[in-house]
Amino acid sequence: MSGGRVKDFGVKGIILAGGLGSRLRPLTKVTNKHLLPIYDKPMIYYPLETLCKAGIKDIMIVTGGNSAGDFLRLLGNGRDFGLKDIYYTYQEGEGGIADALKLCEHFAENGPVCVILGDNIIQDDITPFVDRFRKQGSGARLLLKEVDDPERFGVPEFDGERIVRIVEKPVVPMSNYAVTGIYMYDERVFDYCRNLKRSERGELEITDVNNAYILAGDLYFDILKGWWTDAGQFESLFRASQLVAGERLGVPS
Ligand code: G1P
Repeated sequence: MSGGRVKDFGVKGIILAGGLGSRLRPLTKVTNKHLLPIYDKPMIYYPLETLCKAGIKDIMIVTGGNSAGDFLRLLGNGRDFGLKDIYYTYQEGEGGIADALKLCEHFAENGPVCVILGDNIIQDDITPFVDRFRKQGSGARLLLKEVDDPERFGVPEFDGERIVRIVEKPVVPMSNYAVTGIYMYDERVFDYCRNLKRSERGELEITDVNNAYILAGDLYFDILKGWWTDAGQFESLFRASQLVAGERLGVPS
């Protein structure tokens, strides 16, 4: 297999790092949000390390906007992360998470994927969750985190131990949990993405994909214990740096 890609029958990784980062203007006026610093590294390093730590070797980065070439300059073929190569693709405009995911269908080759949003930074090692997903064999697996401000996220509604639906940014949240931006899916995800309708904010919503798995009775979840944050707004971008710095310097968060 020299020169070609090493066939990995395991879960493939997808990092979604497109979008225009409009909520972070002017920081994102000339660069992509995922290249901004989180404490001592560019944001994209964190999701990449999260996937690599979980033993995921085949990784696609979906980028977009004006600075797409900078990802290649920064990450190259992934040698600094112990990878043989990295795959890149380009999302035009801001069509939402599920729209970006659609670009990865050929990459997935009908296999399972672990998708992580490029601005999601997490303390936990996700290896045990990915292992559970591998054993699960089919369906979807989400990672949830208890938060103080669920209305900012996709929020699950529970019936006992089961999630019965997920609502995107509900005015009145049905639980104190956020659906984090780490999603594991079997090959059906691309069929679900194809059938989506645009939401009120004009995007193809990943929450609608997750609800399709709930309807199919095939959605499972784990709950993160360590800290988790997104970094798409000024407060969360700042908090992400604080959390990482706290960890590096050994200060409890
Ligand atoms: C997106 C998802 C939301 C999820 C969040 C996690 O929100 O739509 O369901 O909880 O990522 O970071 P957005 O960043 O598009 O507001």
